[in-house]
Amino acid sequence: MSKNTRVILTKRPVDDATPDCFSVETVEDEALENGQVRVAVEYISVDAGTRTMLRGEGFHAQVGLGQTILAGGVGRIIESTVDGWDKGQAVRGGLGAQTIATVMPKMLEKVDDTVGSLSAHLGALGASTGVTSWIGVRKVAKPQPGDIFVVSAAAGAVGSIAGQIAKRDGAHVIGIAGGQRKVTYLTERLGFDAAIDYKNEDVNARLRELAPKGINVFFDNVGGPILDAVLDNLAMRARVVICGAISQYGDMDNVTGPSMYLRLAERQSTMEGFAFFHFPESVGPAGAELRTWLDDGSLVMDEEVLEGIERYPEALQFMFSGGNLGKLLVKAC
Ligand SMILES: NC(=O)c1ccc[n+]([C@@H]2O[C@H](COP(=O)([O-])OP(=O)(O)OC[C@H]3O[C@@H](n4cnc5c(N)ncnc54)[C@H](OP(=O)(O)O)[C@@H]3O)[C@@H](O)[C@H]2O)c1
Repeated sequence: MSKNTRVILTKRPVDDATPDCFSVETVEDEALENGQVRVAVEYISVDAGTRTMLRGEGFHAQVGLGQTILAGGVGRIIESTVDGWDKGQAVRGGLGAQTIATVMPKMLEKVDDTVGSLSAHLGALGASTGVTSWIGVRKVAKPQPGDIFVVSAAAGAVGSIAGQIAKRDGAHVIGIAGGQRKVTYLTERLGFDAAIDYKNEDVNARLRELAPKGINVFFDNVGGPILDAVLDNLAMRARVVICGAISQYGDMDNVTGPSMYLRLAERQSTMEGFAFFHFPESVGPAGAELRTWLDDGSLVMDEEVLEGIERYPEALQFMFSGGNLGKLLVKAC
């Protein structure tokens, strides 16, 4: 009989999701029922949106007290009662923050494990990472050659790919991120045209300097004061794309709206939000194109991996303190 080690929610976080809100327990797995498969989870995706699932109410699916934290993962089937879902098959799905997931195949997707690491299926090729960036840029933001394209949380998973796609599409890309290490990463490793360190620079002043004629497209992952600073610097007929607002996730009952939103009227501009699942028809094409870029080496998706399921709570806190460059993952086993 296998044993599963899982991370459960023990207390609803206030502000930060600190490690004392979680506990890690090991339980014996029950016998597999007909129609189920058992998966050994290899990598767990750490996602900003998970913080909004810990409240008990909201837009995203919610985690109940005592329940396993919801999370995307990749792994391999170790036991199966279902034809066509054989032992050894690599799979991706909502496996949860645990080492062994017992699920129905309809919750899973088979993945190709012949090229590269399985972790790429959560990062560059993952629905809540690369595919979200692709949809946000290609289907919503639609930058044109020469456009000034600004992206926030630019050194993180979604932001770093969004900026690279906009650059491929001919935009002039400016990333906003926290700290000099991230500024150097954006310009030197990812090839962005410029970067702003929002922790140590005046974002509004730097945007005026870097984009004196205004910003055409803003891909926002952060919200709050950064969104306001960009709104204040929009060009005429600009597009502001709301992908996320991580600065607000710690207190979703008191979200701070943009005080500069009237710039949209002044500059005949639009603001549009999206989630990747609003574009189901684009998930396949996005994954296929991202795979091509990953294979030819033209897409950079760095990964930061914390080893051990018990480090999942630490990983979530690490992300919210801005520790990660690229995709943050936990290696479960
Ligand atoms: N629309 C969709 O379908 C969809 C799907 C997936 C994700 N998302 C959104 O995409 C965004 C990025 O998510 P991700 O999972 O890829 O995370 P990520 O960008 O890899 O990590 C989050 C980053 O946000 C920055 N950050 C944290 N707190 C901040 C604050 N108060 N102010 C400014 N920056 C802060 C940190 O970088 P710094 O060091 O730069 O602060 C951190 O590294 C999130 O808003 C998420 O909700 C949307």
